[in-house]
This record gives sequence, C-alpha cells and structure tokens, in this order.
Amino acid sequence: FGRNVVYFDSVDSTQKIAHQLAQDQAPEGTLVIAEEQKTGRGRMARAWYSPSGTGIWMSVLLRPTLPPQKAPQFTLITAVAVVQAIQDVCDIQVEIKWPNDILVNNRKITGILTELQADSEQIHSLIIGIGMNVNQQTDDFPEELLDIATSLSIAKGEIISRAKVVQHVMFHLERYYKIYMEKGFAPIKLLWESYALSIGKHITARTMNGTLTGIALGITDEGVLLLEDENGTIHQIYSADIEWSSK
Ligand code: BTN
Repeated sequence: FGRNVVYFDSVDSTQKIAHQLAQDQAPEGTLVIAEEQKTGRGRMARAWYSPSGTGIWMSVLLRPTLPPQKAPQFTLITAVAVVQAIQDVCDIQVEIKWPNDILVNNRKITGILTELQADSEQIHSLIIGIGMNVNQQTDDFPEELLDIATSLSIAKGEIISRAKVVQHVMFHLERYYKIYMEKGFAPIKLLWESYALSIGKHITARTMNGTLTGIALGITDEGVLLLEDENGTIHQIYSADIEWSSK
C-alpha cells in the first residue's frame, strides 16, 4: 500500500478524489492525502473539520473481491490498524467506539469513513477515509469541538511526526487487510473487541429507525453491533450513533 501516493496542498475532499481515481483504474493501495480539505466529510453527511498543517486527511483505495455486505468490516479493520499505529508512534492509551471513532480520554482523535462503489454482487472499489487530529492544540479547535475532540499532540504533550503516523497506519492497514483476506474476520474481531470501549456497557444507540438502549454485547462476525435491551431481546445494529448511558 502507499506505493502510489497522490498529494494535494488543498482539496475539497480526499474521498472525492479517491472515488475519481478508482474509476480511472488507479491501483489497489493508492493513497490520496491532503494538507487541507475545504469540504471534508464525515459519517451521516456531517462536515469534517480539516484545517491545514495539523491533521492527517487521507483516503486509501482498495479493491477486495468481496460482496458489498462485507464493507462495514473494513471500518473495523482500519480502526485496529489506526490504534496500533498510534500505539507504535505515541504509546498512548486509545479506545475504539463502535463503529468508527477512536477516542483518547473520551474525546475523538480519529474518524473513519468507508465508502464503496459496488453492484449487488461485488465491490468494485472501497474507499477508506481516515481523519486524524495530530498536532492541533486546544486553541486550534473551534468552540463546538472543544469538548468532543482532541489530538495526539495534546494527549502526548509533544509534537508528533505526521509522516511517521501515516507510515505506520499504511503498514498496519496492509498487514490486517492481508490477514483478513487470508483468514477472515475472526482474528480482527478479537483485536477490535479488546480495544473497544462500548462492549459490556449500557449504551443508547440512535439509529435511522429510532433509539434503542441496552447493553452492548459485542460484534458479530460481520461487524454488526449486538445490543441486548432490558427485555432480553438482542438487536443487530448496522448503523447508529452511540452514547454510553447511565443505568
Ligand atoms: C467520521 O467520524 O464521521 C468520519 C470522518 C472521516 C474524515 C476523513 S478525512 C479524509 C477523508 N476525506 C473526507 O472528506 N473524509 C475522510
């Protein structure tokens, strides 16, 4: 991965560029990375704050020959790779909040956005977007993000090399991608669960179809979250925002 790197000083969104490159037959493992994004996007059509000089805004193009139902697993594979990269470079304690948030001290340090081009049978290309807050200091975050976001530099108390973080993310992503393609999701699921904050906790999940509360039991082999409500019914959650709730 990362042998084909496309770099921009400023771009609307690295996701958008990666989608275009995918259609232009760019090779698997292509990395699109930008110093700044004008219209960085997050999950659920939210904006992603991507200022110049402090963060890592990158998208990786993959072409797994798999059915589209497998795509959500790639968010979890990427989360495991990012956690290990952070541990390698910064040696700080991080946790994963299902499905795609990486937190330090309960504040978001990384978000992952997995998008795909596919037909009903097969993925044509999978674009994994990774947004990492690296060298922002507290004053750099806009007011509305102050309580919910943090950076590697704030957590570690020193400036972090973004190049080194990117290198380690790419290394682990390639490694886990190979493990996944050879051995399936089971080994990654185990690792993911060991880093996950939500498992065993009482949570509230806001889905498109309403709100559910209960205990997060774990994830299925497909990467779907299992939640047991107070009647003992187990729900499968494919997409939601979750919060821990007190019980
Ligand atoms: C989220 O937590 O909602 C996901 C955020 C993903 C942000 C990254 S930054 C690089 C790539 N380009 C984008 O426009 N978004 C992703």
